[in-house]
Amino acid sequence: MESRIRKIELRERVTTPLEASNFIKDGMVIGTSGFTPSGYPKVVPLALAERVVTSKEDMKITLYSGASLGPEVDGAWAKAGIIAKRLPYQTNKELRKDINCGKIEYLDMHLSHSSQYLKNGSLPKVNIAIIEAIAITEDGNIIPTSAVGNSASFVKSADMVIVEISSKHPLELEGMSDIYTLNNPPFRKSIPINSSKDRVGTPYIECDSNKIVAIVYSDMEDNVRDLAPISDVDRAISNNIITFLEKQVELGKLPKNLLPLQSGVGNVANAVLAGLGDSKFENMTCYTEVVQDAMLELILSGKIVNASACSISPSPRGQKLFRENIDFFKDKIILRPLEISNSPELARKLGVIAMNTAIEVDIYGNVNSTHIMGTKMMNGIGGSGDFSRNAYLTIFSTSSIAKNGKISSIVPMVSHVDHTEHDTMVIVTDQGVADLRGLSPKEKAKSIIDNCVHPDYKEQMRDYFERSCERCHCCHTPHILGEALSWHMNFLEKGTMKK
Ligand code: COA
Repeated sequence: MESRIRKIELRERVTTPLEASNFIKDGMVIGTSGFTPSGYPKVVPLALAERVVTSKEDMKITLYSGASLGPEVDGAWAKAGIIAKRLPYQTNKELRKDINCGKIEYLDMHLSHSSQYLKNGSLPKVNIAIIEAIAITEDGNIIPTSAVGNSASFVKSADMVIVEISSKHPLELEGMSDIYTLNNPPFRKSIPINSSKDRVGTPYIECDSNKIVAIVYSDMEDNVRDLAPISDVDRAISNNIITFLEKQVELGKLPKNLLPLQSGVGNVANAVLAGLGDSKFENMTCYTEVVQDAMLELILSGKIVNASACSISPSPRGQKLFRENIDFFKDKIILRPLEISNSPELARKLGVIAMNTAIEVDIYGNVNSTHIMGTKMMNGIGGSGDFSRNAYLTIFSTSSIAKNGKISSIVPMVSHVDHTEHDTMVIVTDQGVADLRGLSPKEKAKSIIDNCVHPDYKEQMRDYFERSCERCHCCHTPHILGEALSWHMNFLEKGTMKK
């Protein structure tokens, strides 16, 4: 392991996780590497949680990351009661519980905004950055593991850096990262990337080695999770999206190999990509946030020729596939800082096809991706807004019903808005596709009701829309305001949206 610390003088900073955790003090801002359960530090966060629980220390910190983290940070720190404030995204059950009962302040942000907020002082600077690495270079720079996320911005902002050198991540990851960061305006230049495969930065995160106060060795794996088997609903959504894309190619609206694909994370996203494996599309590219299993398989089969992301987040099976074929993947996957992987400038320039998942969608195409019944945080907006507002084609999908049919995922009015009707272009459910481009609000409502609403709710929705039109004399966006959220109220009071 020592040979991974190529700057010899730094070897004397190797210490234990507990000693390293002693640098972390009450009130500090901690920025960690990691993006999904991939590339995040583990042994130091666990040592800190244990220390605080055992010694009953009073400690509250603010935690920044690229996106969600594994349970060794988000779960362990929430359980230890350490987190006062968290941003910009999370998916952890413990953390979610504490966010929704007011114990933790949570900033749910567009991921691409997070490093800009940090650089322009809208967020307090980082006191300590904890970065998982495969190695430290001869000059003291840090070579990240499987996720780049916000690490470069955190290292730059931090007073102190703790490096966790991981023995589990293969050294062959070296060269996959492409670190290029942005200055604040007016010194920001256009990003010189014109294709998903362009490399424009360094393979390491620049770091003043004087900032490195501790180095620890870690033999802990990323807590990668199995994906659920593809359900019939996921397959129906996937088929609907692929048929729609094929039609767009036939109509000459998209090139034969499509445009760079951005795909959200989770089961639907994985099902869509898996479906693309059986489609006739060839030579596809990806400009996205996270490389999941299906993307790895498509790269291996040659259907996808390259993918740009900010982390590789496979299931245990996908991780095995990745590691067994790492030499093949090496020049086909590029890992970039979040501000580049999720850059609105690049989503627009490259003409990304953004495919993300919604919790609920309303009849005018407004999308709620984050809140259950308008009040309870699920995960966060993540990168969905970075891509969807700026993409060439923006698709949101959801199953037409949730909770065994007690909920219609298409509602008269969303209970929280993340993506407005101006950003969403195509809505897809297991029932069908509504292409909203070029439609007025009333035309959108008709298309969504006809194509996307589950049959159990179709008549109820038509009735609402028709009465809304009558009541407001066919105004621009018809609603009966006193009734628009009554479906949600009905669910909360009676356990079903059915009337
Ligand atoms: N109303 C209330 N609850 C609903 C619902 C609705 N309309 N639709 C789904 N749910 C519930 C589900 O029942 C499930 O509940 P459970 O955890 O108690 O089982 C939960 O919400 C998650 O639903 P699921 O169908 O499993 O969704 P998913 O895993 O595909 O995730 C999102 C969907 C929207 C939560 C997820 O994609 C997300 O967090 N998106 C925002 C961030 C994002 O888009 N990231 C990618 C950007 S690159």
